[in-house]
Amino acid sequence: MPRFDNQTVLVTGGTGGQGSSHVRAFHAEGANVVIGGIDAQRGAALADELGTRARFVRLDVTDESSWSAAVRTAENAFGALNALVNNAGVQNPPATIEYTDQATWSRILDVNLTGTFLGIKVAAPALRRAGGGAIVNIASTMGLGGTAHYAPYVASKWAVRGLTRTAALELGRDHIRVNTIHPGVIATPFIHEPAAGATTAIAEFYSPEPFAIPRLGEPGDVTRLLLFLTSSGRVVHHGIGVRHRRWAPPRPRPSGRGRMSTPDPARRRPRS
Ligand SMILES: NC(=O)c1ccc[n+]([C@@H]2O[C@H](COP(=O)([O-])OP(=O)(O)OC[C@H]3O[C@@H](n4cnc5c(N)ncnc54)[C@H](O)[C@@H]3O)[C@@H](O)[C@H]2O)c1
Repeated sequence: MPRFDNQTVLVTGGTGGQGSSHVRAFHAEGANVVIGGIDAQRGAALADELGTRARFVRLDVTDESSWSAAVRTAENAFGALNALVNNAGVQNPPATIEYTDQATWSRILDVNLTGTFLGIKVAAPALRRAGGGAIVNIASTMGLGGTAHYAPYVASKWAVRGLTRTAALELGRDHIRVNTIHPGVIATPFIHEPAAGATTAIAEFYSPEPFAIPRLGEPGDVTRLLLFLTSSGRVVHHGIGVRHRRWAPPRPRPSGRGRMSTPDPARRRPRS
């Protein structure tokens, strides 16, 4: 594991789910952690548990002034900000585009996209003052393709990808690396609790069976990738999106109606 001694990392949505896994791991590897979030009770409890190298700040990612306060907390408490993890995110209640109201669309875009934009905007000067650093934006495999019933979420995560690549071009010369991670389905409240306005949770209708690795992802799977991308080793990863898991085609069944056959390489048409 890379070490983060004397480094300060701000994690948004750091009070639970994947965010608290990231916070704990950075802290265990020597970092000072600033836990940004809207759940003050859980955030304060986590900071208390971790001790002097941790602070909780109330950070609503859609509010630029609370971003300024969070970055100020990092610099005042620990001297510098070295990495930002834009992890906070919300999903929409499942609905086709025709049945998605504009308020839902705007809310999802506000948190997932505008929140990430504001984070980059406000943190970049601090990272520059620190002599460089890393930003990792948590997108989704839904930011790589279409998913019926999730238009606001899908659009927001696609946009985070474009924003990341643009930020990478703008900040690279200041030694600030900017990357995305695209997690698959991860076992957190995100899938076990219904989204605001929904009655069923994703986990109730989701099966990991078609995945190459047929199990739910764990927050730690994403955390390990995150530590790699934020570590200031010699390897430079910049402006890339790392996909966490991908769909595997259904396994061919040996016989029966509707069976899928394994493609015969000899019959494949050459690519033009
Ligand atoms: N769990 C999955 O299957 C999955 C898959 C792909 C991507 N993701 C992404 O991973 C990230 C973390 O999600 P998670 O799985 O830990 O879900 P989660 O619901 O447990 O965590 C989301 C966090 O974001 C916080 N948050 C929501 N609105 C906020 C706001 N306005 N300001 C600050 N914080 C706010 C919540 O309080 C919560 O702590 C999200 O960006 C999500 O889109 C999750």
